[in-house]
Amino acid sequence: MDVFGVDIGGSGIKGAPVDLGRGDLAQERHKVLTPHPSTPDAVADGVAEVVGHFGWSGPVGITFPGVVTDGVTRTAANVDKGWIDVDAAKLLGDRVGGLPVTVLNDADAAGVAEMTFGAGAGRKGVVMLLTFGTGIGSALFIEGRLVPNTELGHLELHGHEAEKHASTKAKDDEDLGWHHWSRRVQKYLVHLEMLFSPELFIIGGGVSRKSDKFIPLIEGIRAEIVPAELKNNAGIVGAAMAATGG
Ligand code: BGC
Repeated sequence: MDVFGVDIGGSGIKGAPVDLGRGDLAQERHKVLTPHPSTPDAVADGVAEVVGHFGWSGPVGITFPGVVTDGVTRTAANVDKGWIDVDAAKLLGDRVGGLPVTVLNDADAAGVAEMTFGAGAGRKGVVMLLTFGTGIGSALFIEGRLVPNTELGHLELHGHEAEKHASTKAKDDEDLGWHHWSRRVQKYLVHLEMLFSPELFIIGGGVSRKSDKFIPLIEGIRAEIVPAELKNNAGIVGAAMAATGG
């Protein structure tokens, strides 16, 4: 069965029909640039363009880079503050012509996809997926079940908010090399391991494609550390999965 998935990110709004049997895109994805400012109305237009590109009619799952409870977006760390307390499921549903819409956190979506089709498939116990990008997203699983809306990118670490210090945006903005940046990621993982003792860390986000440049540099962590396998499509796949209730 195919369901549509959309991933709202800091730079692009990407979507495609997803083959839920395979956990992969059923067609090549379509992307539009995220508008700036990324107000709810402007982003909703982008989502409508992506969904309309495929002439889609059916359920649509949509990720959002913030806390989402019952379709309402609650935080907006890296998007326009106008998203706080917006009924996003209604706004986006109306904008895509009344199709049934499910909205969830972007890292949670990526995590759900990885736990079914990727690096976390079949893994029990406590598993933590982290996405490194404009911010740091987190998805926490216990026995394969998601604890939604963990916001572990905002933990404070040595007086810094972790995502301001260890995201790939920080790497780019401060022009850090892999070695320097990996030290920051390592400190962050040590802290998370102290708090949660996961048995597996899955490293997602665009940077997971370059995992060989930094994962081998990370030391002193008991848990296994592996790159995400669905790479940049995890959010789209997870969004589509959420739209079917699982
Ligand atoms: C947001 C999270 C999001 C992450 C990655 C953080 O700033 O608070 O909700 O998952 O960025 O986009």
